[in-house]
Amino acid sequence: MIVLTRRRFLDHSARALAAAWAWTDGFPFEPARLHAMPVQERPQLARSPFTLGVASGDPSADGLVIWTRLAPEPLAPGGGMGTEAVRVLYELAEDDRFARIRARGTVEASPLRAHAVHVEIEGLRPARPYWYRFRVGSWESPTGRTKTAPHPSADVDRLRIAFASCQSWEQGYFTAHRHLAQEDLDVVLHLGDYIYEYGPQENPVRAVIGPEITTLDAYRQRYAQYRTDPDLQAVHAAHPFVVTWDDHEVENDYANDHSNDGEARESFIRRRAAAYQAYFEHMPLRAVRRPRGPDMPLYRALPFGRLVDLAVLDTRQYRTPQPCGNRIGPLCDDARAVGATILGERQREWLFSHLDASPARWNVLAQQVMMAPLDVTAGAALEYSMDKWTAYQPDQQAVLEFLATRRPSNPIVLAGDIHSNFANDLHARAFEPASPVVGSEFVGTSVTSGRDGTDITPRFQAALAENPHVKFHNGQRGYVRCTIDRDRWTTDYRVVPFVSRPGASVETRASLVVENGRPGIHRA
Ligand SMILES: [Fe+2]
Repeated sequence: MIVLTRRRFLDHSARALAAAWAWTDGFPFEPARLHAMPVQERPQLARSPFTLGVASGDPSADGLVIWTRLAPEPLAPGGGMGTEAVRVLYELAEDDRFARIRARGTVEASPLRAHAVHVEIEGLRPARPYWYRFRVGSWESPTGRTKTAPHPSADVDRLRIAFASCQSWEQGYFTAHRHLAQEDLDVVLHLGDYIYEYGPQENPVRAVIGPEITTLDAYRQRYAQYRTDPDLQAVHAAHPFVVTWDDHEVENDYANDHSNDGEARESFIRRRAAAYQAYFEHMPLRAVRRPRGPDMPLYRALPFGRLVDLAVLDTRQYRTPQPCGNRIGPLCDDARAVGATILGERQREWLFSHLDASPARWNVLAQQVMMAPLDVTAGAALEYSMDKWTAYQPDQQAVLEFLATRRPSNPIVLAGDIHSNFANDLHARAFEPASPVVGSEFVGTSVTSGRDGTDITPRFQAALAENPHVKFHNGQRGYVRCTIDRDRWTTDYRVVPFVSRPGASVETRASLVVENGRPGIHRA
């Protein structure tokens, strides 16, 4: 083991942006400046503060962000760290024995940010694995492995990504993450419902601490509880993550500044600010993503060579309230109203100009909720969830028309939210199966939400017969793995038979293919 003396840290010319961000607006929790706080250079901690593991994320060709949070007592207020800032050492190396160090330095962990640290490393080589770790006093973190993205202009032969979503602590074990950690991947996408905000539910597989979370301390504690999970720690330590959120990181079915529980806007916006801050603190996100009060700029794009472009969307922060009573039923006029939006105008315009300029062969929209319409009841009635793209007709149609007319190369939509697997053809006109197929959608099931699950129920089988654009469905738990080359996109639906107890094995339930230049889903 390398003994890290202070002198060696100072000697090393690591090119890293220490996460000493000035939170300038102070809303609603932050004082204007952090700098006045004294820093404990060598804190004496009786227990390891690395109970929440390590993580990395948002890889570019020359860098990424590495993350940890200090919490010797993860479920205690403040994680048991007290009120002082402490010095954290970090190292990133080209090998897992840390013989060839590429970046090393120190960063301050502040109680104002839950003693979370985000370090952005620059100057790395593209498409290459790196290993990283942290140290506080005499305690050393687990080692994380990560990987940079290919150079944006590189002709990449093959890329492997996976995506997951919806991991209710109460509803099962994160066995899917244990298997995901073992996969050979370039990056993992998390499409939201990383936590659930609820208080205790009936018959939990595992109990959450505390009632429904609404305060910054409670959101922090909930993230800490989730991150104590060894399978979740394993998957973060194995792969870089690109994350976006859905609703449960704040509140079920919230829409922009609109609470689904009828909470007054002023108090809900404070809750949203608390939730966004805790989300940022616990995710491997770059400083540019940090929240400003109740706003957090999460949508972004990440290139992976000329093969794949990831447009990571946020369909919660800017949407108008769910129309038509926000219940499953027929669409009403509100779903078609001028101004109804799931993306918000700025994000929509950004997405379109980004896609117009993208040189990538495969253009991925990594986002939360299903884009294809899904009539969920068998029989003559057309009934839809009001929380998905179908209930926001102007944006659904704008995106599909964009795909039909501007023709970005090989559009692939990814989604989560619905706790089951789907593979859908996207038609130019969503409700006209005879209109051309302009894209392909892969919806990934939950890690645990919905408990053990079943392949398909007879009732849903009947409903699916009325949705001919749905090419595959499965209602088990798991994650989705995608292997991408220049000619073909292959999606493997990886499922586990149970989550109500640990130890399930994983299998590929189905493999589906999209051919280059031919939108639409085929069996492998
Ligand atoms: Fe969910």
